[in-house]
Amino acid sequence: MSEDNVNNKTYVEGDEQIHIRNLHKTYVTDETSVTVLEDFTLDIRKGELISIVGPSGCGKTTLLRLIAGLIPPTSGTITIEGRECEGPGSDRGMVFQDFALFPWRTVRKNVEFGMEVAGIPKEERRARAERYLEIVGLQDFADSRIHELSGGMKQRVGIARAMVNNPAVILMDEPFGALDAQTRNLMQAGLLRILDKTDQTIIFITHSVDEAIFLSDRIVILTKRPASIKEIVEIPWPRPRDRASPEFTALRKRILEELEKENVLQ
Ligand SMILES: Nc1ncnc2c1ncn2[C@@H]1O[C@H](COP(=O)(O)OP(=O)(O)O)[C@@H](O)[C@H]1O
Ligand SMILES: [Mg+2]
Repeated sequence: MSEDNVNNKTYVEGDEQIHIRNLHKTYVTDETSVTVLEDFTLDIRKGELISIVGPSGCGKTTLLRLIAGLIPPTSGTITIEGRECEGPGSDRGMVFQDFALFPWRTVRKNVEFGMEVAGIPKEERRARAERYLEIVGLQDFADSRIHELSGGMKQRVGIARAMVNNPAVILMDEPFGALDAQTRNLMQAGLLRILDKTDQTIIFITHSVDEAIFLSDRIVILTKRPASIKEIVEIPWPRPRDRASPEFTALRKRILEELEKENVLQ
């Protein structure tokens, strides 16, 4: 049995939490059919932050929606802790680029939403929401309305809303893509602090190679559509990582070159 060190977590081979096996996805509409994933196989380890990068339109969001159980695969399987994924479930939480919050609800009520649906008593809902609002630094904004918040704050509500249900896996689709560069950097640092406090697995889609290197235990580089795995890059460096260091810059350059080769118009 081989052991690698994945950022202070000891990874033991065979410890994978999610198995994606021979996944195919073809979208069929009246006139066309588009194959987005073809024979896609990947194992994801418990507690890792794994980023997915790839050319625009290659199938990243499709892959995440399949893992979320929001759409069915054409063929192939996804199993999470031994259970085949056949629809959405409380073991997975999702964070969207456009936040997808409930604008008419307060911050607290947004975070409590999933617990309301699950029928968790009010006292417990309140206590858990408080805890996660504190983790994302929004304890003083619990009663604010969504429209009163900045983009970065909205996304912190989105993260708290996903985490509060304590899902084993959090799925993030370009969560910081709508934010300005400075807020984005603050959110990345904030996410690393949050991760210190949990053992949740994060599957993180980004079009920023810089962000992927800054955050990830592993980066999966996808080919152009139909997406398959071009390379998996393991990043053993401790965090926080120095974006200006020679090894960071060299890795960024290499991954960008790989992506460039896939970036043909299709
Ligand atoms: N519901 C759908 N019906 C038909 N085609 C779709 C649908 N969703 C996505 N696609 C197509 O699938 C391809 C991959 O989309 P997507 O997974 O969103 O890529 P990415 O997130 O990597 O940019 C694109 O060509 C897109 O137009
Ligand atoms: Mg997408």
